[in-house]
Amino acid sequence: MVDRDLNVVVLAAGEGARMRSARPKVMHAVAGRPMIGHVLAAAEALAPARVVVVVGPGMDEVAALAAPRGHAVQARRRGTAHAVAQARPALEDAGGDVLVLYGDTPLVAPETLARAVARRRAADDPAVVALGFEATDPAGYGRLRLDGGELAGIVEAADADASDAANRLCNSGAMAADGALLWRLLDRVGADNAKGEYYLTDAVALARAAGRRCAFVEGPEAELAGVNTRAGLAAAEAFAQARLRARALEGGATLVRPESVHFAADTELGRDVTVEPYVCFGPGVSVGDGATVCAFSHLEGVRVGDGATVGPFARLRPGSEIGDGARVGNFVEVKAAAIGAAAKVSHLSYVGDARVGAGANVGAGVITCNYDGFAKHRTEIGDGAFVGSNSALVAPVSIGAGAMVGAGSTITGDVAADALAVTRAAQRAVEGGAARFRGARRRAAKRG
Ligand code: UD1
Ligand code: CA
Repeated sequence: MVDRDLNVVVLAAGEGARMRSARPKVMHAVAGRPMIGHVLAAAEALAPARVVVVVGPGMDEVAALAAPRGHAVQARRRGTAHAVAQARPALEDAGGDVLVLYGDTPLVAPETLARAVARRRAADDPAVVALGFEATDPAGYGRLRLDGGELAGIVEAADADASDAANRLCNSGAMAADGALLWRLLDRVGADNAKGEYYLTDAVALARAAGRRCAFVEGPEAELAGVNTRAGLAAAEAFAQARLRARALEGGATLVRPESVHFAADTELGRDVTVEPYVCFGPGVSVGDGATVCAFSHLEGVRVGDGATVGPFARLRPGSEIGDGARVGNFVEVKAAAIGAAAKVSHLSYVGDARVGAGANVGAGVITCNYDGFAKHRTEIGDGAFVGSNSALVAPVSIGAGAMVGAGSTITGDVAADALAVTRAAQRAVEGGAARFRGARRRAAKRG
């Protein structure tokens, strides 16, 4: 059910200069999904009435990803308070609470955000609730200053003094605030600080000055660490992978060597799936119950059926479907292809833009020639068909159900159901030919 008293502002307008990238920082991926995508998913899990993403000028990619939610453009980067203020026209009439999230804090879990919102709505009515965490290395983070257990203020790293040196309680940036008050407080935020920016964090001291109390909620560092650099991105990836591995194990999958498996945020593994070492899951993969993904395989955008076997060294590309009990073996590449139930593509093949029928056998080294230099064409292989090794299927072409293709054939025309097609040249036997050949070579060698 929609929480009508909750609106979310996601800040994503910073260029992320420290990333040294041509792309906006929030578009960098963690576990195969742009950071902003993670934040939006967490926000949406709370079912807020509205979500507004604040983007920088020209950040079309970010705005497109934010759609169909609202977005506002911050024409100049003047600080986090100024960024939140850009969402005011879209939210001011909404009332309720405003939850501010930073697009560069990708791993925050909905449950943790829900705790901050719940704290904001507690009987003692804190005006602003900051989400904090104990940082292993607090350098660069704003610190939560406490006063008798209550949140008294947030001081930015650049403005911190000696009294903050030992304080490791850091500000994650996520903040739940009384909406009506927040908009008024933002008017009062100044830029008289080390960076000359309008800090959202000043809202805490301003709320206190207005006679309201503030509070904080603590969450795990693994969720709340912010990403400002490539090293930070790698650290977030490590946190994400650890969480995804734990989730896979809890869900009933066997990971033979968990730390070597790379997951995407949306990887779905059924029960009794076995994942061998060094497997990489890109986005959009689901693996059915009892399937095995053998070592060194790379999967992306594919549904693997129950009991199927993939790899070792298989590459499954987007738009593919591997049927129940099918086998895709070593050095096989599958792209935008459906492999039928119990079909076998066991060795050294490329199957692209194709359908392989149930129970069909595609021999070693079979290639679908799907591209003529201009367009892609389809190959259809019927149920129970047998395609001999090292055949080239020049698309568009179809092999009927139960048909056979002799090894080494180049198939350019359709093969009818249950027909046998062979295109290779007839074999010629030359009796004693090998012996005569060797003799000639030896005599030539003796002559020098
Ligand atoms: C901010 C917090 C700091 C906190 C840290 C947590 C402030 C002033 N500081 O610092 O207390 O410990 O995050 O990671 O809030 N952004 C805009 N427009 C702007 C400036 C920033 O949209 O004008 C966005 C950025 O895209 C980013 C987020 O706000 O997603 C945070 O900005 P960033 O510059 O990374 O702040 P930090 O220095 O990390
Ligand atoms: Ca940051």
